[in-house]
Amino acid sequence: MIRDGQPADVAAIVAIEADVFGADAWHTESVAAELVAPGRRVRVSGDPVSAYAVTMVVGDVADLLRIAVRPEQRRRGLAGALLEDAVVAAAAAGADRMLLEVATDNTAALRLYAGAGFTEVDRRARYYAGGVDAVVLRRSLRSGCGARGSDS
Ligand SMILES: CC(C)(COP(=O)(O)OP(=O)(O)OC[C@H]1O[C@@H](n2cnc3c(N)ncnc32)[C@H](O)[C@@H]1OP(=O)(O)O)[C@@H](O)C(=O)NCCC(=O)NCCS
Repeated sequence: MIRDGQPADVAAIVAIEADVFGADAWHTESVAAELVAPGRRVRVSGDPVSAYAVTMVVGDVADLLRIAVRPEQRRRGLAGALLEDAVVAAAAAGADRMLLEVATDNTAALRLYAGAGFTEVDRRARYYAGGVDAVVLRRSLRSGCGARGSDS
């Protein structure tokens, strides 16, 4: 079940961050701030949290800031469900597109996003710690809930 993240979930999210993102991980203050920041939406699966997604909507643009799943809970559809939840909510909030950055060597995430209708629109050189490039992906939200629009 997907639900809103709560202050009681912060420690579990921080633990996943440290495990999954290493030097780029959000710490306690950052995760707690995401719960209350304007335009942010933190959604989680599990109790304790096994997966979460963080989105930001400003005007007509939604950004996927984070999505992560505990290693032992992967390939069960959790990220796909969180991503679709984020897409539906962003469209309802008035966004007409969702953007995200992903490392060029992150095969799992690249396949997740491609399967959800995201396409490459740009690249950012040496965006991540260690000098890995980022791919900027975009998905239209115009065609209604869950639809994969093609307005490029
Ligand atoms: C990327 C990530 C969020 C996927 O989470 P998940 O819950 O395992 O993903 P799902 O089970 O919903 O998978 C959806 C689809 O994504 C693709 N996918 C997911 N993991 C994959 C992998 N390891 N290899 C290839 N494709 C993969 C598949 O197409 C999959 O569909 P399928 O299982 O029917 O083949 C997870 O691997 C993770 O937390 N990675 C570390 C954090 C991260 O990289 N976040 C994204 C940063 S931009």
